[in-house]
Amino acid sequence: MAEVRLDRVRKVFGSEGDAVVALDGFDLALPAGTFTTLLGPSGCGKTSALDLIAGFTKPESGTVTVDGRAVERPGPDRGVVFQDLALFPWLRVDENIAFGLRALPAKEADKVKARTDELLEAVGLLLFRRRYPAELSGGMRQRVAIARVLALDPPVLLMDEPFGALDAQTRVLMQEFLVSLWERRPRTALFITHDLDEAVFLADRLCVMTARPGRIKETLTVDLPRPREASIMSSARFHELRDRARVLVREEALRSIQPLSGTKA
Ligand SMILES: Nc1ncnc2c1ncn2[C@@H]1O[C@H](COP(=O)(O)OP(=O)(O)OP(=O)(O)O)[C@@H](O)[C@H]1O
Ligand SMILES: [Mg+2]
Repeated sequence: MAEVRLDRVRKVFGSEGDAVVALDGFDLALPAGTFTTLLGPSGCGKTSALDLIAGFTKPESGTVTVDGRAVERPGPDRGVVFQDLALFPWLRVDENIAFGLRALPAKEADKVKARTDELLEAVGLLLFRRRYPAELSGGMRQRVAIARVLALDPPVLLMDEPFGALDAQTRVLMQEFLVSLWERRPRTALFITHDLDEAVFLADRLCVMTARPGRIKETLTVDLPRPREASIMSSARFHELRDRARVLVREEALRSIQPLSGTKA
């Protein structure tokens, strides 16, 4: 299992006059095998931080490391699940899941098949293995997307609002599904969301960011028992954690819109 660290990170988009400082003095450590959720107002730099860990972008200064090694580029050790899925519409469900395994030599075809079956079962889609993404519901498509990332068994799992486009009922089912999947095989996870219930329900640690330039404002330890079940959402401790997170996010959301409120129409 892998420890992820961002130390004194500065990330700037654009240059000169229209430069936007997304992150500045940003420190975040994801202890190996823990599930961290990242909350913060829109535009505070959550996706920027995740992209740095994924290796999609590089910081202007500071360091991003996995187990002490600097992140230079995307790699199979870090799986990324996006909000807009990115499934291949022309491939069937099982082919989408096996896509990342295509680099394996032909003589390992049996292994690929077994791994794909295992994942299809884990995400409850064995019966739909020969369907195309367009023939599935939103929640089913999202499960294919997760299975495809898990195919490579990455020690680090990065998720950027993966359930953002789902209806409320499906979303709760997907949260329960992800939690049980993760509890069966814990790995270092970072999960971005705007949904406070989701953030508490999934996490070991909940990090709230400041308004841009983003830093970690406060980290809450989610000391709720595992395995997590939906019933925990009605416990007093759950409400306490969620309400604390709400206060923290609201403070920063207000700060992030302040420049607008000062201008005259
Ligand atoms: N590719 C880019 N080019 C220019 N500016 C960017 C780029 N990506 C992000 N930014 C800017 O960096 C800041 C942080 O963006 P980021 O996407 O990390 O926010 P976020 O916290 O993920 O927001 P949201 O909750 O809305 O997804 C924003 O001001 C955004 O405009
Ligand atoms: Mg984002």
